[in-house]
Amino acid sequence: RADSIDSSPPRSAFSSRFGFVMAAAGSAVGVGNIWGFPTQVADHGGAAFILVYLLMVVVLAYPMLVAEMTIGRMAQKNPVAALGSLSDKPFWKKTGTVVGIAGIVTLSLIISFYAIISGWLLAFTLEPLAKLAGMPGLASWLTSFSTSLNLIAMVAFMALTIHVVRAGVSNGIERWSKKLMPMMFILLLGLVAYIMTLEGAEQGLIMYLKPNFSHILEPSLLVSAMGQAFFSLSLGVCAIMVYGSYLSEKESLPKTAAMVTVLDTSVALLAGLLVIPAMTVAQANGVTIYAASGTLLDSDTLVFTVLPTLFNSMGNAGSIVAIAFFTLMTIAALTSAISMLEAPVNTVCEQLKYGRSRVSIVIGGAVSVVSAIIILNFEALFGLVVTLTTVYGQPLLALLFGLMLTWVLQRDRLLNELKKGCPDMAQSLFWKIWPWYVKFVCPVLMLLVLLK
Ligand code: PHE
Repeated sequence: RADSIDSSPPRSAFSSRFGFVMAAAGSAVGVGNIWGFPTQVADHGGAAFILVYLLMVVVLAYPMLVAEMTIGRMAQKNPVAALGSLSDKPFWKKTGTVVGIAGIVTLSLIISFYAIISGWLLAFTLEPLAKLAGMPGLASWLTSFSTSLNLIAMVAFMALTIHVVRAGVSNGIERWSKKLMPMMFILLLGLVAYIMTLEGAEQGLIMYLKPNFSHILEPSLLVSAMGQAFFSLSLGVCAIMVYGSYLSEKESLPKTAAMVTVLDTSVALLAGLLVIPAMTVAQANGVTIYAASGTLLDSDTLVFTVLPTLFNSMGNAGSIVAIAFFTLMTIAALTSAISMLEAPVNTVCEQLKYGRSRVSIVIGGAVSVVSAIIILNFEALFGLVVTLTTVYGQPLLALLFGLMLTWVLQRDRLLNELKKGCPDMAQSLFWKIWPWYVKFVCPVLMLLVLLK
């Protein structure tokens, strides 16, 4: 064993805790936070949904996040090899490998639909610039949702993602996350502050913060909140696992996972303060935000029609706000997509011993082909892929990761890993509760949510 460690090249790693937290929070904070969360809140009874969501984060998502990060860091390998190394028994080696491959395949499908949405966000960022540059034809193409736009914007977004992943873990992912995440945060704060000064924002605040508990009894609420929490924390699809494998052994797993969870949740809550008031400001300006049935317009109409209409009505200031808003969304999407591409890239590089640059381009290209197939069969495939991967795939796979870690791995090996960066682990409350909790309580809770 010592030989094999010596002969393999040193594994890439994040160079600092800050770098890891920015990259992992970058993975977590994405379209799910800035668009998904606020529209779900508006749809499901305001603060009542927030409460259920927070509950899901604490009782299910955080414990699973620790589990997924632990698997990665313990193995110091790609996700497929990591899941295959939890036990020496051939059966569990095989099972782990299959679960890992399922995670990577699900993740690849997630990138392929995520890149389509992200392409639109990129196009909507460029549209006001095209207008300011006096190119109205280009501007209207950028917001046309035509097949040509969808394809080109998706490829452009994938090219950005590949560009970062190709450069490696500390030189690409970490370097960019450290720049982009603070930028995203400043944009978000600035936009929240600006929206609050506009007429009509108050109604949005009320809609956001006043709980309507009649929704709490809807059976779909728990499932939606759980799905939202798992998607938002990037769980169950090896993205967080691969980042965990680059985390230094000096760091405490429960603590760094808690930082990522707090950052991700804070950004979602802040995004609610931006998007929901922006909707009611639009309404105060005469834009319809409710469908004929009395419910809110669907979430893509809200982001791609209602908000741009509002920005347009604000003249030149509106162009700046539009650029800021869609830049914010594009950055959030990019740091998430980077983590999605990294897992398959790292797996193929390590398993097949190919160079990172080539593998990034080939896998990024393959994902773009799948994405193009979805674009060309949009009605039939888009919703289907989103539902299969995020509603069913992510929670189920996250549960399998947690179960493999707590049932298959020997308890002293688990303790040993958690002790790194946390010497008092054996006496801690965390150690007394968490392994049993993931082993017995999480599966029961998830089953209850899914069967409800
Ligand atoms: N967490 C990201 C978001 O909120 C999406 C994501 C899912 C990222 C799965 C990585 C893996 O948008």
